[in-house]
Amino acid sequence: MASNKAAWIKKPGGLIEVETVEKWIPDRGELLVQVEAVNFNPIDAKLQRSDLFQPQYPLIVGFTFAGTVISTGPDVGSVKPSDRVVVARWGQAGIENKFGALQKYALALEENTLKLEPEITFEDASGVIANLATVVSALNIYMGLSLPPVTGKAQKNGKRILVYGGSSAVGGLAVKYASDAGYEVVTTSSTANKKLVEERNAAHIIDHCQPKEDILRELRANGPYEGIFEAIGSQATTQLMVELLRETGGQFFSTSPSPGDDQIPKNVQKTWAGYSETLASREANRALRVWYMESYLPEALKSRSVWPNPALWLNGGLNSAQEALDLLYDGKVSGRKVYLNPQD
Ligand SMILES: NC(=O)c1ccc[n+]([C@@H]2O[C@H](COP(=O)([O-])OP(=O)(O)OC[C@H]3O[C@@H](n4cnc5c(N)ncnc54)[C@H](OP(=O)(O)O)[C@@H]3O)[C@@H](O)[C@H]2O)c1
Repeated sequence: MASNKAAWIKKPGGLIEVETVEKWIPDRGELLVQVEAVNFNPIDAKLQRSDLFQPQYPLIVGFTFAGTVISTGPDVGSVKPSDRVVVARWGQAGIENKFGALQKYALALEENTLKLEPEITFEDASGVIANLATVVSALNIYMGLSLPPVTGKAQKNGKRILVYGGSSAVGGLAVKYASDAGYEVVTTSSTANKKLVEERNAAHIIDHCQPKEDILRELRANGPYEGIFEAIGSQATTQLMVELLRETGGQFFSTSPSPGDDQIPKNVQKTWAGYSETLASREANRALRVWYMESYLPEALKSRSVWPNPALWLNGGLNSAQEALDLLYDGKVSGRKVYLNPQD
């Protein structure tokens, strides 16, 4: 195995520094993976620049990756060297640098790992594993919606939900997942990404680049909604949901806290959580986690009933990590999922 390298953030606001790092040896329940696809999430950029989250430094960011197993530690039974796998960094793995995705060789916990059939690409698997877990948690645990079948689609149940931000990574997965569960899904997109969202079987797509009053009029005209999942989590989208619910009162589920949340009127409730972590780590959700990791996700990847937004691969390996974080932080990612290969 060649020497290991990692992309570090060494202090709050610090830029990525690519440096040699130790060659990890997998312990009990762990495996060492040659990382071949790192998939970026907005949280990676927020960890670098926002003080909403207070990580411990130095830090190796990167939450989801896919690659080839190099070696396994004691008691690992589900995967072996040379298997292709996808990994999300849940539980204890989320806070220890040896599990960070932005390395040539990263450790993974077996329980966070899914072995991939040859036809499943690293791109699809790493683009879906954590974002879809977010959707499962938000829609099923928090919003109480029903599950889709493992294969095929549920019969239409006559219920309508709103997924605000259907062209985002999480929003797009939520549209398809809820639609497969039998819901009629009203969602939003820019004109540029409308086709992407149509492919996810949305019942109605509202242009979220219109003036605010027009968006609100169309949101009201297409309601009422059994549930609202606001997938963007920004101050602007929070304000819009508050406007939508101001007269009637009600609850919406969001993906992120945002500035001004303390001024939301009392009759409107914004709920957010670290959704995928809740699914992965809370004992009460164990059965749903097992359903997701052992039944639904493998089948969904195989049949491609869900898929990530189209990939934007950056060249240059770990040296491109800062470019990826800048694209996300500056809001320059539109209907795409950003990836790099640390082996480049
Ligand atoms: N709480 C959790 O567990 C959790 C998990 C995952 C993600 N998140 C959070 O969820 C949010 C979305 O993450 P992501 O990975 O899905 O993001 P993403 O795909 O990187 O988001 C980019 C997309 O957001 C859309 N967008 C931006 N501003 C918008 C607005 N005002 N109205 C509607 N759409 C807008 C853009 O759509 P157009 O280009 O079409 O305009 C763009 O395609 C982030 O805040 C992230 O941190 C939270």
